[in-house]
Amino acid sequence: MSEYILELENITKIFPGVKALDDVSFKIKKGEIHALVGENGAGKSTLINIISGVFEPTKGQVKVDGKAEHIVNPGRAFELGIGVVHQERNLIDTFNIAENICFMDVSTGKTKFVDKAAMHKKAREAMQRVGLELDPEQGVEELTSGKKQMLEIARAMCMDSKVLLLDEPTASISLTEAEILLKTVKQLREEGVSIIYISHKLEEIFEIADSITVIRDGKNVGQTLPADTLDKDKLIELMVGRRHVIETYAVRDFKDAPVVLEADGISSKKNPIPKSFSLKKGEILGWYGLVGAGRTEYAREIIGIDPVRNGTLKVNGQPVRISSYEEAFRKHKICYISENRKEEGLFLQHSITDNIGIIALKMICSKAGFISYKKQNDITEKYKKSLSIKAKDIFVETASLSGGNQQKICIAKGLCVNPEIMIIDEPTVGIDVNTKGEIHKLIYGLSSQGISVIVISSDMGELVGLADRIVVFKDNEIKGELENSKDYGTMSTKVMGSILL
Ligand SMILES: Nc1ncnc2c1ncn2[C@@H]1O[C@H](COP(=O)(O)OP(=O)(O)OP(=O)(O)O)[C@@H](O)[C@H]1O
Ligand SMILES: [Mg+2]
Repeated sequence: MSEYILELENITKIFPGVKALDDVSFKIKKGEIHALVGENGAGKSTLINIISGVFEPTKGQVKVDGKAEHIVNPGRAFELGIGVVHQERNLIDTFNIAENICFMDVSTGKTKFVDKAAMHKKAREAMQRVGLELDPEQGVEELTSGKKQMLEIARAMCMDSKVLLLDEPTASISLTEAEILLKTVKQLREEGVSIIYISHKLEEIFEIADSITVIRDGKNVGQTLPADTLDKDKLIELMVGRRHVIETYAVRDFKDAPVVLEADGISSKKNPIPKSFSLKKGEILGWYGLVGAGRTEYAREIIGIDPVRNGTLKVNGQPVRISSYEEAFRKHKICYISENRKEEGLFLQHSITDNIGIIALKMICSKAGFISYKKQNDITEKYKKSLSIKAKDIFVETASLSGGNQQKICIAKGLCVNPEIMIIDEPTVGIDVNTKGEIHKLIYGLSSQGISVIVISSDMGELVGLADRIVVFKDNEIKGELENSKDYGTMSTKVMGSILL
């Protein structure tokens, strides 16, 4: 019996034109939590895909419990006791909860007969582990993205896996859900399960990891290190290759600035509690709250995606009725970047330049309506550089990019349309720490040019560093509005104080 449950030896993976992994090696002990960290496009998900049988390595081998294995497909990984939660959602929308949870049992022949009662029992037990109480018969399509994510985690956890691979499991769940998840992961470690944990949230890494492997540009950065020999700064330095300074922006005064957007008592059928706020020219307004606090819904009402029932909305002092996003954008120059960026905003089969260019089309069309490909490509190149989009060139298919790099394209699409008011929903979820700073710089730069920005974020540090004012949401209500002194200690106490009220 080996001390290691999983050993990766000299793994190389070459996609057409891209060396995603270059001679990567590391080992996972039994019953340890092993964190895999690195910038967007470093190769983390590719490693997960190799261990879970989605891709075969070009070179190198994987050993499970000391024995070399060819993990030729996901079914083989399952047989070997490897459970996985991929970065991309992987539930079958036309199946109900129980069917999704028991899918592997049936499809790999572990269960020969479909026993509904047994499936329901298994589904309930699985959900209980992660604090979900849903009807096993319920369809999964209508669940929120957070619930879907928890369900996938529940599924992976109930597979009696020896190894569990979690690729950014907390990117789209609430803080409370994340706490439950981290607790369950620790519990699994107690039970002897080995876990590979990928996250861009470094606090999480330090909370649960026993050891850390850093990947940069598809290669190992040094040896695997015990987590307690590292701190945040050191880890970032290993990931990025240099020291990294997180910028804090100055306190600004907007007393005399004109109000560009004003909502007075806006409510809808779904969210009957009226809410008000105002946004000044050139200001960054943070909307803080936990996932599910009602910020996205409110934004959708403001920009006309969801119908408003009561209240008035003024743009530049004029009462308006916005009935579609098209109208918000074209008539009022309000742009919204959704948190469900991949679902709502990307043409995955198209190139980077076609994705960024499509929305900038109006800007880059000549009067006669001709598209200047040169201008389109120039704009795309500019964003590829400033957001460090990792791709061979701007003509590659968007589907072939890493999760974080796809996110960056969505952000670029929103940034390049020259709006006067922007609402950006969770701008840095799934984005590596270095680019996070770049995105903050871009948002700050836009505001300095007079563009007013609402940043919806569940990341208190992000809002305290960036926003001029912070509006606090809880349970579909606005609980407070605070001038931001940019001092993390005072601000987080104040924000949490208004949530607890
Ligand atoms: N199917 C594919 N075809 C071509 N290239 C790919 C494919 N999958 C991944 N790549 C490339 O491999 C590299 C590593 O991507 P990977 O998804 O492993 O990164 P990651 O570390 O998971 O990043 P993120 O933090 O953004 O999720 C990237 O350059 C990506 O474009
Ligand atoms: Mg990834």
